[in-house]
Amino acid sequence: MKFDLDGKICLVTGGSRGIGFEIARSLLAEKARVIICGRKADSLEKAKEALSAPENLMTVQAHIGKPEEVDRLFETIDKTYGRLDILINNVGMNLITPGIADLDPGLWQKIMDTNLGGTFLVSRKAAFMMRAQTRGKIVTISSVAATKASPGMGIYGIAKAGIEMMTKVLASELAPFNIQVNAVAPAMVRTKFSEPFWSNAELLAHITKTIPMGRIAEIEDVVKPVLFLASEGSSYITGQTLMVDGGSTAI
Ligand SMILES: NC(=O)c1ccc[n+]([C@@H]2O[C@H](COP(=O)([O-])OP(=O)(O)OC[C@H]3O[C@@H](n4cnc5c(N)ncnc54)[C@H](OP(=O)(O)O)[C@@H]3O)[C@@H](O)[C@H]2O)c1
Repeated sequence: MKFDLDGKICLVTGGSRGIGFEIARSLLAEKARVIICGRKADSLEKAKEALSAPENLMTVQAHIGKPEEVDRLFETIDKTYGRLDILINNVGMNLITPGIADLDPGLWQKIMDTNLGGTFLVSRKAAFMMRAQTRGKIVTISSVAATKASPGMGIYGIAKAGIEMMTKVLASELAPFNIQVNAVAPAMVRTKFSEPFWSNAELLAHITKTIPMGRIAEIEDVVKPVLFLASEGSSYITGQTLMVDGGSTAI
């Protein structure tokens, strides 16, 4: 499947492993120029080695929840390429949380700061840059947890629901500037992030029962819809969240 992303400048937040890493790999296969960011230098280094595309890949150590680090990330992109064509807001973190009645406000803040606050900080800088270019694509990774209240993932789901509304708000603000903003909402994907769930056979059997397709997603199932929303094929689609969930929210 070709998406015509040759020469596009793409930022993938959290591209050092999991879904972000595979998105970066697929963008590089499309001959795009890719910037990945993450908090840990050693993970970025490993990703750089594994992706083995020295001319087309740049890694920047940056925590997306820290405004000064996001500013530095965008200064680097601006200095190196002078533009940004595609932003993939991939960073997301989850900690198993108790119900709201028993939740520590510090835990709430931590999840909100990265998932919602960090996505805002990065999207804000990208929107500013893309508006001046009158061109761009923003694709954000949400989750079915934004639609369905999932036990232990309540606060994560609230943050993801915020991201989906941010997608609509940005889409409407940026539509006059030829910028499309969309999200992809996967159900469980087989990554390190979700390993505690799929590595437990009993839990996995319980989860797959709720998915009409009878299996959890592999990373590739998510990457292709993301590339579609980053490509010209989706030029009249904006403000949408595409459920990539094997039918689990259809029932
Ligand atoms: N896996 C699933 O089942 C699933 C399902 C639905 C939605 N999603 C969503 O898909 C996205 C990717 O998930 P994943 O499973 O691939 O996650 P993952 O394997 O945990 O990878 C997360 C990536 O983000 C980076 N990262 C984390 N916090 C960061 C921060 N504050 N600043 C910069 N980079 C940060 C990590 O690198 P460092 O640790 O070095 O920072 C890593 O590269 C997330 O938004 C997640 O919510 C996942």
